[in-house]
Amino acid sequence: PGRPGGGRSDLRFTPVPPNKEDALRVPDGYKSSVVVRWGDPVLPDAPAFDFDGQTPEAQSKQFGYNCDYVTLFPMGDDRALMWVNHEYTDENLMFRGYTGGAEATEEQIRIGLAAHGGSVVEIERAGGSGQWKLVTKGRRRYNRRITAQTKMRFTGPAAGHELLRTAADPKGRTPVGMLNNCSGGTTPWKTVLTAEENIDQYFVNGDKVPAAQKPYIERYTITTGVPEESRRFDRVEERFDLAKHPHEANRFGWIVEIDPFDPDSTPVKRTALGRFKHEAATTTLSRDGHLVVYMGDDSRFEYVYKFVSKDRYQPGNDRHNRSLLDEGTLYVAKFTGDSPKKEIDGSGKLPKDKEFDGSGEWIPLVSGDRSYVKGMSAAEVLVYTRVAADKVGATKMDRPEDIERNPVTGGVFVALTNNTNRTPAQVDEANPRPSNKHGHVLEITERRDDAGARRFAWSLVLVCGDPKDATTYFAGYDKSKVSPISCPDNVTFDKDGNLWISTDGNELGSNDGLFVMPVEGKERGHLRQFLTVPVGAETCGPLVTSDQRSVFVAVQHPGEIDGATPDNPGSRWPDGDQPRPAVAVVWHGKGKKIGS
Ligand code: FEO
Ligand code: CA
Ligand code: CA
Ligand code: CA
Repeated sequence: PGRPGGGRSDLRFTPVPPNKEDALRVPDGYKSSVVVRWGDPVLPDAPAFDFDGQTPEAQSKQFGYNCDYVTLFPMGDDRALMWVNHEYTDENLMFRGYTGGAEATEEQIRIGLAAHGGSVVEIERAGGSGQWKLVTKGRRRYNRRITAQTKMRFTGPAAGHELLRTAADPKGRTPVGMLNNCSGGTTPWKTVLTAEENIDQYFVNGDKVPAAQKPYIERYTITTGVPEESRRFDRVEERFDLAKHPHEANRFGWIVEIDPFDPDSTPVKRTALGRFKHEAATTTLSRDGHLVVYMGDDSRFEYVYKFVSKDRYQPGNDRHNRSLLDEGTLYVAKFTGDSPKKEIDGSGKLPKDKEFDGSGEWIPLVSGDRSYVKGMSAAEVLVYTRVAADKVGATKMDRPEDIERNPVTGGVFVALTNNTNRTPAQVDEANPRPSNKHGHVLEITERRDDAGARRFAWSLVLVCGDPKDATTYFAGYDKSKVSPISCPDNVTFDKDGNLWISTDGNELGSNDGLFVMPVEGKERGHLRQFLTVPVGAETCGPLVTSDQRSVFVAVQHPGEIDGATPDNPGSRWPDGDQPRPAVAVVWHGKGKKIGS
């Protein structure tokens, strides 16, 4: 605390109160509109969306389902390329009468495959307004759909390894498709890094693999047997049946690099960044110019990772820069508290030094072909990264989701969504609450603010929940003046260094939303809710444009509530009809800076 910058005190908007409305609610004086929704044409020859006339061919040219990570690549002041992840599908909301993958038509299963992946779309705005719109006419030469069927390639130390080989790809170098792309990042050379997260759910018969592979299948919670809720991708593509193709699961769970400016480019799965349920891939530079990538593994008791490239970034030399993600060191984080263990007693109360804080270290797992983990080769560390991290004593966290570096202060912020499975005996100072329903936010301060450092200090800036709950903590700010928050998920910063936090799974009984908070100065901890999303939705994306005139959010899975179907949808957002996941933009009606 006390470093200059890190937010400003002119955030004056009136917070949006917690609510359960089936609407995107924004503060007084602000406006919002949908930029692009599920089914909108992406490729110029895509047909218009027809809920009752869906086909795989149409879906492979239209905006996919469940939009998550959102990023922009400016092309001048009033035009940009927007990249959006399509994390997963809700077949029960997409198709009338859907009763599971066993009875689904093959056509429906193929629509599901095509609705995954990501989209590149051109967007534009008129005359400096904060309202961005989808470009719907003209050539749109960059527009592209990536799906679960797009041809990709592996690079880095594990490419070609036996563990990545299958009957269809005996060389282990050409995986097909990406799945469950959740959060992500961008590179200084203007490509997208998109993170494959919960890939375990797409396979069947995880228990019918060779005995030697079984512990790894279990560690990645890959589906066993053929459960009723399975999408049954194996019915149209045999590779999803692990009894027949046991290595196919190893080909998912990676960071994928995509060049939005080259629609013919082959997406690349970068094996040097390890394989887990990837969240985020936030890049920054170390003091001496190495590329650093911060990553989370979003499951209970999983880890925080970072990658540091072997070579230095060379501004302008993108041919060289594109190789940086293939060689370097992968580290996992260990967090140590500075308060006596007896003060971290499972009550959730602050210790005597009034802070959950301490020091930490980045433990190396693998560098190129060199493994630092006993009994595992370098390739095994990269393919079974979770197992490697277990062996070196890394700290098990409460679902490490998004990670972002503050552009003003250099602090690295980690959203820890929740972990209801943590017992009182399992608490530590970095994860101090048992049965942690509401999650927390942790700041890493790298030694000398050098992203390449091996050691760091850390502290919790938010322990989420109802401010009236004694175990919540808002960086010491007056709790009578803050908005309740639960399940911090995706985070971003605006140019001034304010932290923006979106939520997924609000356990306080109201809809998810987007919040903003300065992280330094006297307003540090003054958290305010900026918007709420419709019923059943989580808030993803968040992105504040560099001119601070627009906020983008991905409204993911509106209407995803128990028992919802097209005849009885949990939400009718955004069009008063069937719910459609969509990217929305919010701006001030008088063109003021976001947050004013
Ligand atoms: Fe897809 Fe970790 O949320
Ligand atoms: Ca402490
Ligand atoms: Ca999440
Ligand atoms: Ca998420």
